[in-house]
Amino acid sequence: MKDATPQAIYLSDYTPPAWLIDDVHLTFRLSPTATRVLSRITFRPNPETTDRRFLLHGENLKLISARIDGTEVSPEVTDEGLTCDTPQKAFVWEAEVEISPETNTALEGLYMSNGMYCTQCEAQGFRKITYYPDRPDVMATFTVRIEGSAKETPILLSNGNPVGLGDDWAEWHDPWPKPAYLFALVAGDLIKHPGSFTTMSGKEVELNIWVRPGDENKCAFGMDALKRSMKWDEDVYGREYDLDIFNIVAVDDFNMGAMENKGLNIFNSSAVLASPETSTDANFERIEAIIAHEYFHNWTGNRITCRDWFQLCLKEGLTVFRDQQFTGDMRSHAVKRISDVLSLRARQFREDNGPLSHPVRPESFVEINNFYTATVYEKGAEVIRMLKTLVGDDAYSKALDLYFERHDGDAATIEDWLKVFEDTTGRDLNQFKRWYSQSGTPRLSVNTHFSDGTYRLDFKQETQPTPGQETKLPQVIPIAVGLLSPNGDEVVPTTVLEMTESEQSFSFDGLASEPIPSILREFSAPVILTRQSTNVERAFLLAHDTDPFNKWESGRALAKDILAQMITKGTSPSGDYLDALAAVLRDDTLDPAFRALAMSLPGQDDLAQTLFEAGATPDPTKIYRAHQTLKQSIAQHLQDTWPRVIAEMDVPGPYSPDAEAAGKRALQGIALAYLTRIDAGAAAARQYEQADNMTQQLGALGALLSIEKGATELSAFREQWKDDRLVMDKWFGLQVSHAAPENAASIARTLTEDPAFDWKNPNRFRAVIGALSMNPAGFHDPTGASYALVADWLIRLDPINPQTTARMTTAFETWRRYDVDRQDLIREELRRIARSDGLSRDTGEMVGRILGE
Ligand code: BES
Ligand code: ZN
Repeated sequence: MKDATPQAIYLSDYTPPAWLIDDVHLTFRLSPTATRVLSRITFRPNPETTDRRFLLHGENLKLISARIDGTEVSPEVTDEGLTCDTPQKAFVWEAEVEISPETNTALEGLYMSNGMYCTQCEAQGFRKITYYPDRPDVMATFTVRIEGSAKETPILLSNGNPVGLGDDWAEWHDPWPKPAYLFALVAGDLIKHPGSFTTMSGKEVELNIWVRPGDENKCAFGMDALKRSMKWDEDVYGREYDLDIFNIVAVDDFNMGAMENKGLNIFNSSAVLASPETSTDANFERIEAIIAHEYFHNWTGNRITCRDWFQLCLKEGLTVFRDQQFTGDMRSHAVKRISDVLSLRARQFREDNGPLSHPVRPESFVEINNFYTATVYEKGAEVIRMLKTLVGDDAYSKALDLYFERHDGDAATIEDWLKVFEDTTGRDLNQFKRWYSQSGTPRLSVNTHFSDGTYRLDFKQETQPTPGQETKLPQVIPIAVGLLSPNGDEVVPTTVLEMTESEQSFSFDGLASEPIPSILREFSAPVILTRQSTNVERAFLLAHDTDPFNKWESGRALAKDILAQMITKGTSPSGDYLDALAAVLRDDTLDPAFRALAMSLPGQDDLAQTLFEAGATPDPTKIYRAHQTLKQSIAQHLQDTWPRVIAEMDVPGPYSPDAEAAGKRALQGIALAYLTRIDAGAAAARQYEQADNMTQQLGALGALLSIEKGATELSAFREQWKDDRLVMDKWFGLQVSHAAPENAASIARTLTEDPAFDWKNPNRFRAVIGALSMNPAGFHDPTGASYALVADWLIRLDPINPQTTARMTTAFETWRRYDVDRQDLIREELRRIARSDGLSRDTGEMVGRILGE
């Protein structure tokens, strides 16, 4: 396969760096189109290799001068970097380059956002700032001097601790060796929201959230989340913060959610700014999780970093797992697990069962930015969760202590990670390691037998071959199982079965009668479980399972089965199902947030995937109609209950984003959406008028748009929020996500013609184009209008911002599921993108992989 993609980079080709660095000194003379970057770097030969080639990465840099040990040199410069003759022993490299932050629209390297200078260096952006060995296994301490203007850039920030400050300059020193991808610089007219934290050993840390003037009243929640994250990492992982200061900066133009630069985290403003009037409960929860995630990287990512980018899951999978644990502790473990599995199935299963399928640790890439995927992140976190399930909580804790002790300061690998578990537990993890190297979602099927008081579960696992991985070996699957008696008692509490063979049986004896099994509790492994089960049994588990995940899962399986019947056979929803749903809705012993999840139907894309798996060709229009019909039936069946639920879930007093209040509003929002289908929007219009928080305001507006009403509210909303960029993103997005299929493309097109459609801003671009690609029936409009609109805009964005463009091509990753007409339309659009002039490497790689051509 090596020749198919000539510019690809392979894990197997890893070689250690020829030269190592102890310290780096950088001076920035800021100017929008001609920033000068001066570097002074001491290189020394790496004793672990005899390779002495000197290669520095560099892109879009104007080299002004270069010196070695004080003598001017003339390096050989290419588009990707430079080479130069050097002494064979330690030497000092000095260079001066010029860069243009203002014209850097890719938002990678040093760029400008609303007059503010900021950087994004992960994965390979530092090479757009200066010549450097831009690879994570080269770690150094950094001293950074920033020279700005007292008027334009009064605030000058970089990593580490401040060591000097003047009117128009500042100096920072980061004592912890780090790779270049963790470098950051921010300069601008910023206001701080201050805070402080006393660490477990009694050290006081200064905390700041820096924002543009006008946003300072949206920082309190983020600050609180930061303090809770710092405390949690001490309590749960024994990890203390290690600098005098921790800064967070909010920027409006950012490709991702946020970035963990050492001591200077940079956030997309949507991932940190929050206020009750402008942010939904979901926004608050996401902000809390992202703040935690980036903070947790201080240990899992920064103190211990990755040897090379193939090891990305070492930091991302682990840090996602840690942020999931944190959210579970802050809110509800059951609700968090269900939400995580929903996201895993919607994003990772979708990816792993299509043309972009790749292992948690990929073996090759063309553009590393294309591998910040649901597989690396979410399946990466699942793999760690399984490891913890297999070894147990105590051993997990010991292994993590050993990991931090043994690898602090290292650029580590997955092998290092697994070794600490082997050394802690004495287990052989060779088979477990297949989770990192084999792609695809394993299918787990089970048959059950009962005789003479013995209950037997016969499991079988299979993983589809994928290109390059024609044969797959059995993986270790932890299967958490509990058994219930027909009267609903738990006769066998949760037991973890460890499956290692392709086919394997497990027995339980001494049972009085045939039990009802609850399999894969807590979703103990990222697999697709298939089991011949009846709707009676599903309804039983929905009512009686003691495992909240499987309780929810049974309801979901029931809904999926009913929707599948409606789509393929045109049946109507059964009364039993509606009654089971009613019982959950009315069960006051259940957490409202759980009830909200149980009341939401399986998504249309999930149904499409499920039908496809079952050998059918999903029709997005039919799926949409079945969804509508089922929603209407539920709305009518429970019509008397909705007003009661809406009243009962009302949270008195001023808005608070806490989990309990948010759970009530979630259930209230669902009740309102159903009621809107039978009261022609009367209650929603009322709620819109009265709402004092964004959750209820947006919920009401969405409910109205779903029944093609709400025009007045929509313009009032715009008028009210026209000066708030983040709320305007919601205004754009909601119209597209709630559009009826036949209108989606034209609504989206009209919005792209709106003067406020600032398409160079990734949040705004995603609000319209991203939302269209996620409105399933609207995107798959049989005329192909949405495909064409999305493709047009991707072609337009690519030269400006390849990273965001490439990411959004995944809209098309499911194309093989659909009928030939749709396949032809999509193939044409993908080929049109592939043919566009000067297509980026990022987008080129993605489109090529999706097409499989
Ligand atoms: N390290 C990443 C940010 C990043 C991703 C930089 C890709 C460069 C390229 C950061 O830690 C991260 O993972 N952010 C996530 C949010 C997180 C909660 C999963 C993001 O930005 O979406
Ligand atoms: Zn991360």
